[in-house]
Amino acid sequence: MMKGILTRFLAVVAGFAIGIHAQCPNYAQYSQQVHEPLSTGRYALPYQRPSPECRTFNSSIVEETITRMATIIKDPDLFRLFENSFPNTLDTAVKWRGVAADNSAEELTFLITGDINAMWLRDSANQMQSYLSLVQASDSKDSLASLYRGVINLQARYILQAPFCNSFQPPVESGIGPSQNQQNPDIFTPPVPTSIAFECKYELDSLAAFLEISTNYYEATGDLEFFRKFKWVETIKTILNTTESLLIGTYARDGSVNTIPYTWKRNTDSATETLDNNGRGNPVLEGTGLVRSAFRPSDDSTIFQLFIPANMMFSRYLDTTSEIMAQIGDQRNLANHMHNFAQRIREGITQHGIVNHPKFGQIYAFEVDGYGSQNIMDDANIPSLLSAPFFGYTNTSDPIYQNTRKMILSPYNPYYMKGPVISAVGGPTQLIFHLAHAGLGLAWPMSSIIQIFTTSSTSEIKDYLHQILSSADGLGLIHESVNSFDAKKWTRQWFSWANGLFGQCLLDLEKRGLGGVLGASFQGGYGRLFG
Ligand SMILES: *[C@@H]1O[C@H](CO)[C@@H](O)[C@H](O)[C@H]1NC(C)=O
Ligand SMILES: *[C@@H]1O[C@H](CO)[C@@H](O)[C@H](O)[C@H]1NC(C)=O
Ligand SMILES: *[C@@H]1O[C@H](CO)[C@@H](O)[C@H](O)[C@H]1NC(C)=O
Repeated sequence: MMKGILTRFLAVVAGFAIGIHAQCPNYAQYSQQVHEPLSTGRYALPYQRPSPECRTFNSSIVEETITRMATIIKDPDLFRLFENSFPNTLDTAVKWRGVAADNSAEELTFLITGDINAMWLRDSANQMQSYLSLVQASDSKDSLASLYRGVINLQARYILQAPFCNSFQPPVESGIGPSQNQQNPDIFTPPVPTSIAFECKYELDSLAAFLEISTNYYEATGDLEFFRKFKWVETIKTILNTTESLLIGTYARDGSVNTIPYTWKRNTDSATETLDNNGRGNPVLEGTGLVRSAFRPSDDSTIFQLFIPANMMFSRYLDTTSEIMAQIGDQRNLANHMHNFAQRIREGITQHGIVNHPKFGQIYAFEVDGYGSQNIMDDANIPSLLSAPFFGYTNTSDPIYQNTRKMILSPYNPYYMKGPVISAVGGPTQLIFHLAHAGLGLAWPMSSIIQIFTTSSTSEIKDYLHQILSSADGLGLIHESVNSFDAKKWTRQWFSWANGLFGQCLLDLEKRGLGGVLGASFQGGYGRLFG
């Protein structure tokens, strides 16, 4: 049984949370058991929040929000799903908080992804974003602002140590030992010790995640002073140097083969886990203005390294981060440099990333190589093409985006998983211990959530909400993926980011004036007809 084996594997890697009661159960297991009371609707969803003494962070504003939403979300099952999922990161994933050994003013937050005991740059930035609408400026250690600062400071440390890596080990100050990555060893340059990084797949969106969380924190708090302290400016310089070094093409203009700063390969039986051409990836043209990405946010290798969604996200947040840089004093040149770089990437996307599709017209490509080859698809992870308005690169009135969205949510997207249970985007097959956690036929509720974020149609929104609810398989949390034909077949019960994102999405509906759908009933049952 997929679930049983997955549970045992996860129990090994998850370990036990530090700083909470020793008797607290391992949430990897706890989340797969049914806890009463059940919600009173047809889906009878259990109550999956850990007991208060086992929660890893308490926030009164988050509790008040849950209480307030109880009066707004009328369907008892939908409310239960919200109540379980929204606080999931705070309840379960704040593995350690403290301060830097060499500076007691520097807060640190080690935020795990969920069932894997490591901190991803992408996940942690987005896990925090779930609570963004509730963040206010505060010096208090109990505040969401403090949690934010801790994540930014720890991400800065990670990026300064290893700018090509995507997920990281606990900080030494925590006293928590490093986790062992169960995959085959990586062969990559530049090398990074396993005591620092959990995995070193270079993904452009991991660096964009630092710009995203910096922008988010700044816009919520206006706390410029924070960015003057510690190593924030230095980290931005490292991000610029790293990404600029990846504007490089495979060949120099005279035809000689360039030495590229990052190569990676792994002894594996899966093409998405390694890079062709002895770790360099497939050739890309120099001079497009686009930054290479060896891997996607799914942690799969790219087919063509000029990966458009990460370039969009990087450009968008580099521009907003340049505004922080412009205001902190003495950094005008650096701020201008950032703004111009962001513009050049945008021009590169317009020039190379918009292609003509025989059925949908002008659309954004998923990946290009600059030579004219293009990969037309989308993947469920964020950044994706579907989420481009969600992360603010464009908006839903952009006709090219609308064409792209139609393609993505159709059988013309090779990774659109359609079925009677749920129809949403998934991704290429990925195995953990020979078990697929993504793959053909597995739709991601995270995609359904982004489908909601990118439409104002209340009938579409209700449809997606219903699919998410009916595919929760009686366990009351957001799965990573669900078999589009069988709600009983799913992966990953403890995927903190997707849970927080669901809560964020319902709060966003209210903010967009679409809160009325939260009063709808989903008790009619869900069985999607083909057509
Ligand atoms: C959260 O509050 C509960 C009491 O409601 C307490 O037992 C627990 O230790 C608190 N958790 C943290 C991380 O402070
Ligand atoms: C800049 O990036 C290059 C290539 O990635 C690297 O070799 C070099 O050490 C970096 N320099 C700084 C100052 O970070
Ligand atoms: C939406 O995006 C398009 C294309 O990027 C832009 O031209 C337009 O001004 C944007 N509209 C709004 C309301 O922001």
